[in-house]
Amino acid sequence: MNLKGKNYISTQDWRDEEIEYALKTAADLKYKFKMGIPTRLLPDKTIFLLFFDKSTRTRNSFEAGITQLGGHAHFIDSSTSQIAHGESPKDTGIILSSYGHGIAIRHDLVPGEGNRYMREISAWADKPVINMQCDVDHPCQTLADLMTIREKFGADLRGRKIAVSWAYAPSYAKPMSVPQGLIMLMTRFGLDVTLAHPPEYTLMEEPLRLAQENARKAGVKFNITDSMDAAFADADIVYPKSWGIESLFQNPDEALAIAQKYKHWICNEDRMKVAKKEAIYMHCLPADRGHEVTDAVIDGPHSVVYREAENRLHTAKAIMALVM
Ligand code: CP
Repeated sequence: MNLKGKNYISTQDWRDEEIEYALKTAADLKYKFKMGIPTRLLPDKTIFLLFFDKSTRTRNSFEAGITQLGGHAHFIDSSTSQIAHGESPKDTGIILSSYGHGIAIRHDLVPGEGNRYMREISAWADKPVINMQCDVDHPCQTLADLMTIREKFGADLRGRKIAVSWAYAPSYAKPMSVPQGLIMLMTRFGLDVTLAHPPEYTLMEEPLRLAQENARKAGVKFNITDSMDAAFADADIVYPKSWGIESLFQNPDEALAIAQKYKHWICNEDRMKVAKKEAIYMHCLPADRGHEVTDAVIDGPHSVVYREAENRLHTAKAIMALVM
């Protein structure tokens, strides 16, 4: 399978076999990393990492990953580049792609902007564009999540249930792209998906439509509820995290006032008892400890968050190695 030059902007852009190939590549790279076997698959290649938002895992998994593949990353903070003076995606895309071999972008904070920006860059760049999180999808995160779930439960996930739930967080309006990415990807790979959120926190229309369509094609369930407990009931995987209200990303005070009504949407030990005994707790991180989740859960026996974060390295390397 040859994926050289292919963009990775949404998991929806890749066929099931291509996602499988990326997971297989990530597993191979993980094994070799653990064994100390060099994997210099991209010698002398350059990737540009363009950030419109903060990051710990994504930036460092890409920077460490490209180094381990024999290449080099340039970190670009959009606010200190000419993008802040209005340089167009066309000019940025053409010029960066003429200097290197791939462009990865995080642009996730404004609904309606990030995905459009990446697709505009990719229309002009003659090198692959990788989505490091936009307003619609976080395909690097969800690929690592699927890898983590398979490591725990095996490749055949039929009959297993994931609860993707909103949770309260006072820190900031977190993007909607992780829950959207999860409902789109997990419905394709055998999991029954239940999405839970208070009424104000509905996800974007298109990811919801795609999740429904994916579930129908795969013959799995996709349900939506306004009860965290209903979502957790008999779940094999719980993924509670906060996200913002689509219409209020520019109005944080109003959004926070609404969120205050739902402080009881927390993942604690009592709630974990509603899920299956062997259920795993997942979070893309950073988590608002004491709000989205208690320390007892995130540091407890159900939690796989550090393995999940580690798998960001192996999946980022796989994507770069395949498309660059
Ligand atoms: N999960 C995730 O994308 O983490 P960062 O925001 O730290 O990159």
